[in-house]
Amino acid sequence: MTQSQDKNFASMERDGWADADTAQHYARFFAKAAEQCVPELVKQARIAPGAEVLDACCGHGIVAEGLVAAGARVTALDFSDAMLDLARARAPQATLVHGDATALPFETGQFSAVTNGFGMPHIPEPPKALAEARRVLRKGGRLSYSVWQGEGAQSAMAYVFEAIGEHGDPSVRMPPAPGPHDYCIPDIALPALEAAGFEDVEMHIVASEWQIADPDAPVDIFRNGTVRGAALLHAQPKRNAVAIRKSVVDKVLAEHGNSGPWTVPIPAVIVSATAI
Ligand SMILES: C[S@@+](CC[C@H](N)C(=O)[O-])C[C@H]1O[C@@H](n2cnc3c(N)ncnc32)[C@H](O)[C@@H]1O
Repeated sequence: MTQSQDKNFASMERDGWADADTAQHYARFFAKAAEQCVPELVKQARIAPGAEVLDACCGHGIVAEGLVAAGARVTALDFSDAMLDLARARAPQATLVHGDATALPFETGQFSAVTNGFGMPHIPEPPKALAEARRVLRKGGRLSYSVWQGEGAQSAMAYVFEAIGEHGDPSVRMPPAPGPHDYCIPDIALPALEAAGFEDVEMHIVASEWQIADPDAPVDIFRNGTVRGAALLHAQPKRNAVAIRKSVVDKVLAEHGNSGPWTVPIPAVIVSATAI
């Protein structure tokens, strides 16, 4: 058994995001794409000025910052102190709370909108997060969350995970977990949202991208600034790691030209729904 299988998914995620280097690397590199999703995430939350909004899985505070700029009174929650330290600088007007998105420490019906920027793929039981978002929302309140687009999308994420699939050591596997793109797949997201008490579901694609100076940068962005991808990349034997990196470089050059800097797509889907 290899390193990525030694823990269950929940503790892997919790410990991974608690690491200050991972949090800082995510904020500096990976989140360049997440930042491009904030305007649509905030727009789909349909907030009125002065509205009480919860930003769950707030990370380093980019969504909270956008909500504050839109006039909301923001509570931002994360289970990583390393992330909350970064959020304190980025969104000083928000009230920061250490907590779990699947067991929210808030009153029923306390908020008129809940946002969640790229937190869903990290939650072992996403229906619990949807149910908790619904519980803390007033009737008519809006949930708005983002997920990286999967199947069929041209994406730096696919470049990395396909390279792992083709060249990774087969014994390096993730502990059982929901798929990272599940909650933007209509067949999964729509019934789950309905079961949690939502209607009027919308999905909007944001064509976010990374600007990279090195064609193997996507490997390092995943290796140093994520949890799921990092677990799969760190545990690779040297030979497999080299092959994965070469495969990503080949893909970037083939899809985006031989000379850099490169603009690589990493599109996202913003899913929003109204509490009934
Ligand atoms: C990929 S980062 C996204 C950060 C930020 N929202 C953004 O849009 O860039 C995921 C964040 O979710 C947090 N997280 C994951 N599972 C969580 C849970 N069950 N409860 C609270 N926070 C969680 C992690 O600590 C991390 O800060």
